Amino acid sequence: MTYKIAVIKGDGIGPEIINEGIKVLKKVGEKFSVKFEFNEVLAGGAAIDAVGECLPYETLEVCKNSDAVYLGAVGGPKWDDLKGEERPEKALLKLRKELDLFANIRPVIMYDELKDACPLKDEIVQGGLDIVIVRELTGGIYFGERSYSDEYAWDKMEYSKVEVERIAKKAFEIAGKRNKKVTSIDKSNVLDSSRLWRKTVESMKEEYKDIELNHMYVDNGAMQLVVNPKQFDVILTGNMFGDILSDEGSIITGSLGMLPSASLGEGNLGMYEPVHGSAPDIAGQNKANPIATILSAAMMLKYSFGLMEEGEAVENAVKKALKDGIRSNDIAKKDEKSYGTYEIGDKISKYI
Ligand code: IPM
Ligand code: MN
Repeated sequence: MTYKIAVIKGDGIGPEIINEGIKVLKKVGEKFSVKFEFNEVLAGGAAIDAVGECLPYETLEVCKNSDAVYLGAVGGPKWDDLKGEERPEKALLKLRKELDLFANIRPVIMYDELKDACPLKDEIVQGGLDIVIVRELTGGIYFGERSYSDEYAWDKMEYSKVEVERIAKKAFEIAGKRNKKVTSIDKSNVLDSSRLWRKTVESMKEEYKDIELNHMYVDNGAMQLVVNPKQFDVILTGNMFGDILSDEGSIITGSLGMLPSASLGEGNLGMYEPVHGSAPDIAGQNKANPIATILSAAMMLKYSFGLMEEGEAVENAVKKALKDGIRSNDIAKKDEKSYGTYEIGDKISKYI
């Protein structure tokens, strides 16, 4: 069996970090005798420059015919003046929608070795953090109708019961394999779409009797994440709230450069990408932290290919590298030597 991986390197630091991820995957292939076929396609700013559109037809076709999509990051100042529909980010949104990847899984894990990089007080994160954010990814305000003129603009936020049910099901199922707690985050004191969200999630409680369910308003949820993050096991939330809370979640673990993500639908096809963006300010300088991208490959192995042992080997190699003090600039301690993107990828693949 050969696993087909569509590779979208993207913009900014995208190519550098994806190269390290592929390096690690190739090593996994050798060690465990699994075959990967990598097919590189264009999306985002790179595609706009090459063919004039952010998501060429061929890219979408290759992705649809793959077992997984591996993506670096898209966007950058070069394309910032384009209209919404033409921007590099639109490629990401279209891919998610076209592949029906409605469930975005973002683990928020604090590695003990990185405690010092965490901006929160020691006593708040004592014993580490292990949360999973389950973000709805193909609905809500991101995909509602919108309209723009220089005088007046609007975006419509909507959710159907079916959309809420399918993402809530994912969250309950994930919680079932963990600490059996789901916190659903909404704004139902103000928004009708959130009122339907809460009612729908609440109505599923009976089906998942072993899971403890509670609800929070998003403003409070954002605050709770910094004052008492350990109360969370699985956070279930909509598209925009999930976008915001996952950046917050990632930084409380020490660095945005550490957190991977998986975007899943009903089948096995998934898209795997770091939570962070294209960081154009450090692009091409061998400074970017490739760990989020490498850990995204671990998620791919587990979620899309069912290669659990191989996925764990990648996670363990990352842990070992951190233990050995192999750190990029963003997570290095003061006065500590920091390693480049390339060196970190080398070390991690050596540890596979
Ligand atoms: C993310 C990103 C995207 C999002 C952008 C680039 C469209 O911030 O994956 O979190 O908002 O979903
Ligand atoms: Mn985001």
